[in-house]
Amino acid sequence: MSLAALPKVELHTHLEGCAPPAFIAGLAREKSVDLSGIFTADGAYAFRDFAQFLKVYEAATSVLQSPEDFARLTRAVLQERAEDGVIYMETFLSPDFCGGGDLTAWRDYLAAIREAAGEAERDFGISLRGIVSCIRHFGPDRARPVALCAAETAGDWLVGFGIAGDENAGSPADFAWPFDAAREAGLRLTAHAGEWAGPQSVRDALTALRVERIGHGVRAIEDAALVEQLAEKGVVLEVCPGSNIALGVFADWRAHPVARLRAAGVRVTLSTDDPPFFHTTLRAEYDRLAEAFGWDEADFAAINRDALAAAFCDPATRDRLLPRLENT
Ligand code: ADE
Ligand code: ZN
Repeated sequence: MSLAALPKVELHTHLEGCAPPAFIAGLAREKSVDLSGIFTADGAYAFRDFAQFLKVYEAATSVLQSPEDFARLTRAVLQERAEDGVIYMETFLSPDFCGGGDLTAWRDYLAAIREAAGEAERDFGISLRGIVSCIRHFGPDRARPVALCAAETAGDWLVGFGIAGDENAGSPADFAWPFDAAREAGLRLTAHAGEWAGPQSVRDALTALRVERIGHGVRAIEDAALVEQLAEKGVVLEVCPGSNIALGVFADWRAHPVARLRAAGVRVTLSTDDPPFFHTTLRAEYDRLAEAFGWDEADFAAINRDALAAAFCDPATRDRLLPRLENT
């Protein structure tokens, strides 16, 4: 089976981060918002480093102003992802960007996103589940209402809770309360760590937030004892190589530690994070990894089976999807 046709499972995407620049530029025109500063002359997102990426990301998100905008985005993103062979995807949703942390507004946004996802599932054969994410550089006070939004809407579709944003703002322990609230509501947990900070950040996320998956986690490679611990405990890394390379965490594909982590027995999965920002797709990631490390269809099929096993969806959904990954 070709890499293009291979059924794929993607655990780490940000819904707003999946918005193509033309989609955001179109919304900006409709709403008469001047976003010209965030695009290059040929219409791509323009940023030089992570700090500027976050600013551009938040500016782009500012034109997503209603549940209907998010519904349109969800449908467009899922259609594109299904064409890439993705059959199951998890995406981070931020109540900060969907009603500003207000529960009533959040319910409306979530309902619109879910409805669009249900239509896309029927039309394109791709299943989506949501993970509420608080934003680290917005601070712990803003993370509390976000966690309450998540806890109130936890269920078969809203399946997880996490944290994104600037890893060097505050520490994981500052966010223990939101993570405890989410855990008590039955949500599964993940945290961005080991992207912009080193191994200690990964250790802190594991101990202070008690997460079962780590977003990125790749800088664990700097500490052999931590790598061993991740492998032993079966902690799943949501690795996004193209994102790391585009943002300058690693110089190029061959320098990326994903193959070394996998060889050390760490459960790695593959995702795109914010693909239009990083000029990537999941298919393109597979091609680059095949070139860099000699991985073949069997390697990617095994990674996809691990990803489905680590998905936060309910067992019935997993069992329904599993046959599509078998014989690949
Ligand atoms: N939000 C969107 N993309 C992100 C990334 N790569 N790291 C942290 N927060 C993010
Ligand atoms: Zn991310």
